[in-house]
Amino acid sequence: MYNIDLGKSGLKVPTIGVGCMRIANMSESEISAFVDTALQMGANFFDHADIYGGGKSEEVFGKAITPSMREKVIIQTKCGIRKGQYDFSYEHIVNSVDGSLKRLGTDYIDVLLLHRPDALMEPDEVARAFSYLKETGKVRNFGVSNHNPYQIQLLQNALDMPLCANQLQLSIMHTPMIDAGINVNMYNNSATVRDGGVLDFCRLNNITIQPWSPMQYGFFEGCFVDSNKFPELNEVLKRIGDKYSVSKTTIAIAWILRHPAKMQPITGTTNLNRLADSLKAADIKLTREEWYEIYRTAGNKLP
Ligand SMILES: NC(=O)c1ccc[n+]([C@@H]2O[C@H](COP(=O)([O-])OP(=O)(O)OC[C@H]3O[C@@H](n4cnc5c(N)ncnc54)[C@H](OP(=O)(O)O)[C@@H]3O)[C@@H](O)[C@H]2O)c1
Repeated sequence: MYNIDLGKSGLKVPTIGVGCMRIANMSESEISAFVDTALQMGANFFDHADIYGGGKSEEVFGKAITPSMREKVIIQTKCGIRKGQYDFSYEHIVNSVDGSLKRLGTDYIDVLLLHRPDALMEPDEVARAFSYLKETGKVRNFGVSNHNPYQIQLLQNALDMPLCANQLQLSIMHTPMIDAGINVNMYNNSATVRDGGVLDFCRLNNITIQPWSPMQYGFFEGCFVDSNKFPELNEVLKRIGDKYSVSKTTIAIAWILRHPAKMQPITGTTNLNRLADSLKAADIKLTREEWYEIYRTAGNKLP
């Protein structure tokens, strides 16, 4: 595993983060094994949200992290989604963080992300909440998720700390942010800019993109690896995996890491073998030809 800078935060983080959205129903011993597997492979960055498992994911994770382990792990969580609405109000942000701290059994969160844009966001109000959280030591660094460039800039203008990360959906089978950049000014569907040019914006402003659902197609429709919906893609992943003596899962994560934006994909598996396979991707650097072959086989048109 190698480390990257998390935007301008000054925080060094492993280039692959471990997602905890699906851990709520794991037993205590399963969570301990999950955390141990990650730590043994140098992956000490764990991604949470107040809503994962209705709070249960943070709770079970908090129980697995003993006080002596706390300084060795980097905990990121999110807030801003409530049933039936988004909420970036001062009260919601601060209360959500207090809830996360309690469930995680810690007195600080390393990184807090705003989960999805709130149409009613008041940048000054968010700034007040962030300043309070920073001054009280409850949160050390801040970022966003699923935000476009103008939303980021609007918020950033009100803040006196840098937004260090933007978590966005990206996988071999979900590439709108890449497609638009290589189909500039064309009439085809891939040319549609769905995110305001967020990939280049984040690179220009040193904001780390954290790809979520790195193995899914559609919106949580399923994992493309081993899916009979994508036979050709699986064949290519297998062939390239065989060349490096790794699995298709490893190649799928390595494909994201090969992009020069220095992204930090967030894994989602709860299976220890697949977690280890995902983390091995940090050791693989695909060739330019392999990267484009995978992209083409995913159904994208190239000359
Ligand atoms: N910011 C946001 O809006 C947002 C949205 C969604 C997720 N996230 C974050 O991103 C993380 C990852 O999302 P995700 O869970 O959807 O990720 P994912 O890695 O794309 O999907 C994981 C799911 O695919 C399954 N899977 C089947 N075969 C697999 C294989 N060969 N390799 C890996 N997984 C396989 C896993 O099952 P097994 O567990 O049985 O392996 C698991 O159910 C989450 O934990 C969360 O932290 C953020």
